[in-house]
This record gives sequence, C-alpha cells and structure tokens, in this order.
Amino acid sequence: MGKEKFKVLEGVFDEHTLSTLDVLKRKKYFDELGHAIKTGKEGDVYFARKFDKEQDGRRAIKMYRVTSANFKKISQYITRDYRFKTIKGNLRKVIMAWSQKEFRNLNLCHKAQMNVPYPYIQMNNVIVMQYIDGGMLKDIYLEDPEDFFEQLLEQLYIMRHEAKLVHGDLSEYNIMVQDQTPYIIDVGQAMSIKNEDDFKQFEDLYERDIKVVVNFFNRKYNLDLELEEVLERLEG
Ligand SMILES: Nc1ncnc2c1ncn2[C@@H]1O[C@H](COP(=O)(O)OP(=O)(O)OP(=O)(O)O)[C@@H](O)[C@H]1O
Ligand SMILES: [Mg+2]
Repeated sequence: MGKEKFKVLEGVFDEHTLSTLDVLKRKKYFDELGHAIKTGKEGDVYFARKFDKEQDGRRAIKMYRVTSANFKKISQYITRDYRFKTIKGNLRKVIMAWSQKEFRNLNLCHKAQMNVPYPYIQMNNVIVMQYIDGGMLKDIYLEDPEDFFEQLLEQLYIMRHEAKLVHGDLSEYNIMVQDQTPYIIDVGQAMSIKNEDDFKQFEDLYERDIKVVVNFFNRKYNLDLELEEVLERLEG
C-alpha cells in the first residue's frame, strides 16, 4: 500500500530507503514527498510537506545514498570523532551512523539556539528537517553583506563555544540565506570539541572553514576582512 506513493522514485532510492520513507510517512513526519531540491552522488535532498494548518508544514528530507564512495569519505571522518570510535562494520551501518551524526549535530546546534533547520527525526539514512525557504549563500544577493557577515560570525561563535562543534566543510554552499539571515547546514562531518585538546586536533579544519568564508566575502562583496582579526573575534 504505502510504497505506491514512492513508485515514481524507485530506481532512485533503494528498497531500504523506500521502506524508511514509508515508515516516516506512516508516523506522520510528512504527508507528501515533493520535488528534488538537490540530487548528488552522496545523497539527495527532497522537498516534503505535512498537511498542517496551524504550522509551516514544509520539510526538507535528506537521504544519504548507501554507496562505497560515501563510505570512504565518511569512515575517515567518523574515526576522527571520539563519539564514533566504536563504529565498525558494513557500509549500511556506517551510513546510518553518519546520518545519526548529522542529526545529533543539528540537535546540538539547535539547542545552542543557532539558526539551523529544525531536526525532526532521523531514521536509518534519512533525516527530516525544517525547510529553509531561501538559497545557498553563493546564489543569494545580500542587501547588506557587512550586517550578514556579523550575523554569520555570531552563528560561528555559538557553534564553537556553545554547540562545541567545528563544522569542517563550511563554505558558501553550506550556508543558506533566508530573509537575509544565515542558516548553517550540512553538519554531518562536524567535529565535537568538548575541550581544548579536541579543539587543537581540529584547529586546521576550523581555520580552513573561517578562511573559506572570509575569502568569499572579500571576493564577492569586496569586504576588507582580515583572517587573523576574524579568528581573534571568534576566540572565547
Ligand atoms: N533544510 C533545508 N531546506 C532547504 N534546502 C535545503 C535544506 N537542506 C539542504 N538543502 C539544499 O540541499 C543542498 C544540499 O544539502 P546539504 O549541503 O546538506 O547536502 P550535501 O552537500 O549533499 O551534503 P554532503 O556534502 O554531506 O553530501 C543545499 O545546498 C541546499 O540547497
Ligand atoms: Mg552541502
């Protein structure tokens, strides 16, 4: 019965992903799967809708593909994060752990009151989250880039000091803009930094993250940001 709805998507998703979508739909996390927002080798993000009169029923559903290419990239990250030191085993298991990691990281960010898509649920390789009604920073025209950068800096400060995470893949592709406000996405690879030693271990990644963002604003909006100054402002 339920699987009929996703027939059109067969061939795109494997059986296991289809059953997971089925369960999530039955549990009312969404009512209707819509268009693909983004499809890629590693996974897809789909628009979905929950028929809800009171609240915004729009959802984004991220589904990781269970492929060996993903496995390679992912396992190297997971073994660097103490929370996943014990995860070994097959491809599917690692992809599930990875989705769980992204969901947990989203939760940590949300609890720290960052602007991230609200994480509703994660099951197997599927994450249901709030739909961000905007676009990627690389595509959206900023009315006030200085102000936006300040907002972004605040987000990055909270991410490091409250959520205690190093993003690890920050760029104009993983920052969304909704109503001229930054939303940080794609936190699957983010590293937990509970203490100074953890931070030291990922400092290279952290500095790379900030550098990418600083370079983007200097390049695209002709800002005059100094990497060292920005890093200093992000210190505790
Ligand atoms: N919550 C959301 N609301 C609206 N659009 C989203 C949302 N999450 C992701 N997207 C869109 O889908 C794109 C891909 O999402 P994301 O960056 O999380 O995945 P990815 O780049 O495929 O991840 P990875 O690099 O780990 O495979 C984003 O650039 C954005 O355009
Ligand atoms: Mg991305």
